[in-house]
Amino acid sequence: RWKSSLPQLDPVDRSDDDNNGGDIDWDNLGFGLTPTDYMYVMRCSQGEGGFSRGELSRYGNIELSPSSGILNYGQGLFEGLKAYARADRPGYMLFRPEENARRMQVGAERMCMPSPSVEQFVHAVKQTVLANGRWVPPQGKGALYIRPLLIGSGAILGLAPAPEYTFMIYASPVGTYFKEGMAAINLVVEEEFHRAMPGGTGGVKTIANYAPVLKAQMDAKSRGFADVLYLDSVHKRYVEEASSCNLFVLKGDTLATPATAGTILPGITRRSIIELARDRGYQVEERLVSIDDLVSADEVFCTGTAVGVTPVSTVTYQGTRYEFRTGEDSLSRMLYNTLTSIQMGVAEDKKGWIVAV
Ligand code: COI
Repeated sequence: RWKSSLPQLDPVDRSDDDNNGGDIDWDNLGFGLTPTDYMYVMRCSQGEGGFSRGELSRYGNIELSPSSGILNYGQGLFEGLKAYARADRPGYMLFRPEENARRMQVGAERMCMPSPSVEQFVHAVKQTVLANGRWVPPQGKGALYIRPLLIGSGAILGLAPAPEYTFMIYASPVGTYFKEGMAAINLVVEEEFHRAMPGGTGGVKTIANYAPVLKAQMDAKSRGFADVLYLDSVHKRYVEEASSCNLFVLKGDTLATPATAGTILPGITRRSIIELARDRGYQVEERLVSIDDLVSADEVFCTGTAVGVTPVSTVTYQGTRYEFRTGEDSLSRMLYNTLTSIQMGVAEDKKGWIVAV
């Protein structure tokens, strides 16, 4: 069985590091990597029937066979979730970590990998947070971003599932994702490249979905856009999502978001925002969202663990720039406030979304 309490760990001497926790500029956290003290590692070999022994170790490089499944064939998944410092008492709060665990299980099935149980996953996340407690930003300054990975770590030459798997978690304090900070972003509709296709892996969080979007993302950034919006690969008419987040469009009192029919990443923030918007009386539709729906929207915003709820001020499509409402009175701002007050423990957690650490 996995360990149920925090083991004795060597104290980490970070006195020579640039960032030793005390030196961190909590007011200017972006989404860069700040290495923290510990990571969690758990392995599973062929024939073992599941993951069994996990433990914390000092954060650092890992050893991998050059012929590991992840390096050669991209057999891997990742997750992302955040821990927040509590306002009312010492301790931390996780936002719906069981949902990340379940999404990893679905992805693992698609990628022919064994996966940790929900209990193992959440336990490992808690241990990682506790061991890196000094890196959790103070209330209101950001969060500890937790990055679970599940990779085919065993050696394999022919194309087949790897003979060994490693589940790992590391963490980094983060602030806002986009360089725009809390400000609204400008997006461009990508017309050459696609993120996903029917029957592909767009609906699971495989590592292999992310490197292929870099080219479109880099081109867009060089033209001053924060990210791109992908169109469906069949009709080239329906918007799907951005490279790093889901998409919502508001017209009147109807909020629409692309339905998760295999090409859309089923975001946990996405699902939470759907629920919070319905609670506010909005009609929320999960359906195809056409380019026409997008350009005629009153408001557009993106959601994700990393991006939170980010307002979109303009979308450029075929050279035309379309503008949307942003600011204090926008729905995205209201939803952002509601979501973050639950996540930070400022509002009552009526939905049971928070897991205390
Ligand atoms: C997240 O929002 O946590 C993600 O995994 C997106 C990633 C590109 C930062």
